Amino acid sequence: MAYENILVETRGNVGLITLNRPKAMNALCAALIDELSDALDGFEKDAGIRCIVLTGSEKAFAAGADIKEMKSKDFMDVYGEDFITHDWERVTWTRKPVIAAVAGYALGGGCEMAMMCDFIIAAENAKFGQPEITIGTIPGSGGTQRLTRFVGKSKAMEMCLTGRMMDAAEAERSGLVSRVVPVEDLLEDAMKTAEKIAGLSLPSVMMAKEAVNRAYETTLAEGVKFERRLFHSSFATQDQKEGMAAFAEKRPANWKHR
Ligand code: HXC
Repeated sequence: MAYENILVETRGNVGLITLNRPKAMNALCAALIDELSDALDGFEKDAGIRCIVLTGSEKAFAAGADIKEMKSKDFMDVYGEDFITHDWERVTWTRKPVIAAVAGYALGGGCEMAMMCDFIIAAENAKFGQPEITIGTIPGSGGTQRLTRFVGKSKAMEMCLTGRMMDAAEAERSGLVSRVVPVEDLLEDAMKTAEKIAGLSLPSVMMAKEAVNRAYETTLAEGVKFERRLFHSSFATQDQKEGMAAFAEKRPANWKHR
């Protein structure tokens, strides 16, 4: 597939996807979503890729779904096709880790897309918001649910009811982002973090991701049980033998990713 709205590259064992619709603040039009989905499929199939970074520009990660594209849709258009389509959530079922590197605006569907990633590293100029209420609608891709889980009811409710944006410092304070870095360091920092993950054992990374994500779907007791089973499973991997042997022998591990 030829990409017109994203840039896709491979750097070592890391796949980098850059949202690239500069004239529209990276608004997430249907074509962009198709391309993103295709690129994620490609990285999932590529055994050489062990972590993915999703980023935008210095001005905007993404300013939301494309308002101009959806403004004349009526109820049966959106209900009939179940807009937001399945592909919008493609990033949530990516089994390899996906880091969102966010600079500038992450609004509406852009904020939702960042929250679908495994964690967010933000630049100092990042702004997060769910402004749908100001254009006569509400978040449609998990904003009311994920934001509430990340930052709590009070902030999420205020943001969804008023459209107020959160700056990077508030986002870090509230637990929405893992770290804030200077704008000029964002990509390098995210890539270094991704390389660190890509340099670890792939099965362990995938299991850790699955276990953390389970915390959002189940009770504590069930989640702990799920974690325990994955922990047990890790003892069936070559990498557990190698990792623990390497520790005991005071040498770096030589991962097999098996
Ligand atoms: C389509 C968009 C857009 C969007 C910006 N543009 N956001 N086009 N959809 N979501 C376009 C503008 O129309 C403009 O095009 C160009 O990008 C530059 O934007 P400006 O507004 O001129 O820039 P600025 O004044 O710097 O303001 C930036 C901004 C503002 C604060 C990000 O553009 C803005 O408020 N955008 C909309 C944010 C929003 O409401 N997002 C939620 C969308 S609804 P022209 O052609 O005029 O130069 C949503 C629902 C999700 O996401 C549901 C499920 C996914």
